[in-house]
Amino acid sequence: SICYLDGSYQPLTEARISPMDRGFLFGDGAYEVIPVYSRRPFRIAEHIARLGRTLDAVRIPNPHAAAEWETIVGELVARNAWVDQSIYLHVSRGPDERRNHAFPAVMRPTVFLMSEALVTPSAEVLASGVAAVSAADFRWARCDLKTTALLANCLLRQVAIDKGCAETVLFRDGFLTEGAASNIFIVRDGVLLAPPKSHLMLPGITYDVVLELAARHGLKHRVREILEDEVRTAEEVWLTSSTKEVLAITSLDGRPVGDGRPGPVGREMHAWYQEFKN
Ligand code: PDD
Repeated sequence: SICYLDGSYQPLTEARISPMDRGFLFGDGAYEVIPVYSRRPFRIAEHIARLGRTLDAVRIPNPHAAAEWETIVGELVARNAWVDQSIYLHVSRGPDERRNHAFPAVMRPTVFLMSEALVTPSAEVLASGVAAVSAADFRWARCDLKTTALLANCLLRQVAIDKGCAETVLFRDGFLTEGAASNIFIVRDGVLLAPPKSHLMLPGITYDVVLELAARHGLKHRVREILEDEVRTAEEVWLTSSTKEVLAITSLDGRPVGDGRPGPVGREMHAWYQEFKN
């Protein structure tokens, strides 16, 4: 596949960065994952805006205006063969002469984008839903930033993988935050519930789309703190992300969610999402 690195499009296998890059040494960077359907990036303005917010918060100078980012993404999509793609966009604080926690006096951010085939959940997975485990959310207090320092997320995701599950549902101080790489919604008494945006979760682009679709279609929904016990006794639990879209979690810690099959509210939301993304 073709990637983009610091101004040039090249085969991914030929791309090289310095080991002195702070993205490598410190996980010092910001990223986005943007889904592309039928060669059209989905919600790109929102992804680029969130990137800008992360870069501002971690004090990496944003190397491009929004229109330039959209041009780079568009060109990368055109240079890759897949109709549906997942674009990974990464900006690190760049290289320095020596390893030093303090920022370099002059920052030269490294810009890297690559494309992969976008593989959304198959019909079989959608029909069965996925199994999840739970874990205590031990990440830092700025989970609202989409930074490349994802060691905690990797460790937490691996807890699920080691048990043959797809995702780890995170609880902090008895409340639902999100998944290791997804946002989590639940349904109780037919009402869709979502945890409020805070420093403890990523403000998902898909999360926003789901709440917009709920409003548009008149589905009752509330954004409020969700207790761990409310998740464990919910009728439905879903995960959402740019690559997984809307996916039912049908077992949690080995116990069925609801009747153990994807519920009607989630199936409806998935259908609305499919209609909306095209
Ligand atoms: N992850 N929460 C976390 C911790 C995430 O990593 C993600 C996405 C989400 C969902 O956000 P969005 O709807 O904007 O994709 C929530 C991406 C896909 C990843 O790291 O691969």
